[in-house]
Amino acid sequence: MKLTLRVWRQAGPDVAGTLVEYAVDDASPDMSFLELLDVLNQRLIEEGEEPIAFDHDCREGICGSCGVVINGRAHGPERTTTCQLHLRSFRDGDVLDVEPWRASGFPVIKDLVVDRSAFDRIVQSGGYVTAPTGSAPEAHATPVPKPAADLAFDNATCIGCGACVAACPNGSAMLFTSAKVAHLNTLPQGRPERETRVLDMVETMDAEGFGGCTNTGECVASCPKGIPLASITTLNREFLRASRRR
Ligand code: FES
Repeated sequence: MKLTLRVWRQAGPDVAGTLVEYAVDDASPDMSFLELLDVLNQRLIEEGEEPIAFDHDCREGICGSCGVVINGRAHGPERTTTCQLHLRSFRDGDVLDVEPWRASGFPVIKDLVVDRSAFDRIVQSGGYVTAPTGSAPEAHATPVPKPAADLAFDNATCIGCGACVAACPNGSAMLFTSAKVAHLNTLPQGRPERETRVLDMVETMDAEGFGGCTNTGECVASCPKGIPLASITTLNREFLRASRRR
């Protein structure tokens, strides 16, 4: 199949970028989107041009490293990660605008690569758990109610890819932060830091330049792991509770 890619090229954080057009005539519908970029990069290298910089690691939809905006949609037209998006999701002859995540909390480093270390700092500010971690404890030593275990597991599937931020018109990181808070605050092991965790994570989220949530739901529509909007409700509830207790 033939595709025309208009890829955001930006040499560094402090220089202007622009969309550069590339034609790919020999793409296979079975290729992943990242394999398409590999093929294009191979050609660029052979022609003596600078290859397109993009993030990736596992290419299995589990690490959260990859992520580009394709025709205005984070991770493209399917609800999956960019590495798990295949070209059969497009039509022969399509023109695809490929851009990095656009958010003030994610400054562009180069081409399609953005700095997502703000997510690390949010987790770092509130992710500490004082429960001893030695060898695996006896399974029934700490009873975890089934609803709490299910909620925690559902939220633990967040891979921190940043699509929620990229999709949100406010550049909000509340879906990401809410997944971490709902995951850790729900389990008994995370209870000792329940209040400091949510207060510190929200404070860091704000300080990193992410916007607030106005319930547009774009984050949920683009989340490859299906983190629900209800997690933001949990975050707000935990935040209000902790604020009042403080
Ligand atoms: Fe790991 Fe896409 S490269 S989720």
